[in-house]
Amino acid sequence: MVKIPSSEITPEHLYLSRRAFMVGAGSLSAAALIAAGCASPSLPGAPAAAAGAEAESNAASAAPRITFSELPEALSYDEPFATSDTDDLGDALNSYDEITNYNNYYEFSTDKQEVAVLSTNFNTLPWQVEVTGLCNKPTTFDIEDVVKRFTQEERIYRLRCVEAWSMVIPWVGFPVGELLRAVEPKAEAQFVKFTTIVRPEEMPNQRRAVLDWPYVEGLRMDEAMNDLAIFATGMYGKPLVVANGAPFRLVVPWKYGFKSIKGIVKIELTDTMPQSTWMLAAPREYGFYANVNPEVNHPRWSQASERRIGELGRRDTLPFNGYGEEVAHLYAGMDLRANF
Ligand code: MTE
Repeated sequence: MVKIPSSEITPEHLYLSRRAFMVGAGSLSAAALIAAGCASPSLPGAPAAAAGAEAESNAASAAPRITFSELPEALSYDEPFATSDTDDLGDALNSYDEITNYNNYYEFSTDKQEVAVLSTNFNTLPWQVEVTGLCNKPTTFDIEDVVKRFTQEERIYRLRCVEAWSMVIPWVGFPVGELLRAVEPKAEAQFVKFTTIVRPEEMPNQRRAVLDWPYVEGLRMDEAMNDLAIFATGMYGKPLVVANGAPFRLVVPWKYGFKSIKGIVKIELTDTMPQSTWMLAAPREYGFYANVNPEVNHPRWSQASERRIGELGRRDTLPFNGYGEEVAHLYAGMDLRANF
């Protein structure tokens, strides 16, 4: 059963509240920017996000919510998905409303509750994904073909942000390995580099030096080929909304959320370890691996526990975000403190 968000906002109401919010958004963004700059290199884990969680959740209830009634028909699915109410550990799913209205997507805003509002006019069609580099069959895919050609399935995963909040999200997507196999990687391909679209006219923060655009992430080839790593095209049985990375994003559930890059347009097979955006922005704070690890703290806060969005209090963070059985072998013999 696909869950529909409970709060329905009429178009007029939405239009008005969005306009009112946009009027204030200019000054808000500037303030957020200064705060981020002052705390630099604090992104994406501003100390307030790690420490002031309760204050934030109070603010969340007052913020405008977007319900996303218009999603591209061309990217919708023929089959319903067998949605469960819980993840593999028995934890309840976060609501559609929570997942689509509390987002990190710095191209739009550094304020999690502003991303949904500022991203509603971003165009997800047409959209192409170029797969290139060390492979025999470099291919550029139209996103509609990706959704049709690769069997889409539901994957309910925990998402643990480096800022120490988490959610349980029912993604729709398919294994990264399926797409990579289609282009026939060469033996020399050891890493995969992912790049987000550059469209400053639709992504307000790309007109500012918030980060070094475009947003780039990377995986080792064997990490990318692990069955848990997926490309998501949907969520709760519907096409993704922009705030969650529409139309095409990575989801790597055993790593901190910043590895799960949104709005991907380029995938490159390479023999060199990619330098990710966060490694370049703050090399002491963000490494290439970024595996969820309660024993290795962020330089400015503990990673031992987290706040599940929608819950009061905190819960213990699990090694590899609870997916150790599936992925710990990838790091056998590695020093996970040095390779953070
Ligand atoms: N991808 C891009 N292109 N830009 C971003 O700012 N933020 C990352 C990741 N992917 C980010 C991104 C971070 S820090 C997190 S925690 C997750 O997206 C959040 O995903 P969600 O908003 O779908 O929960």
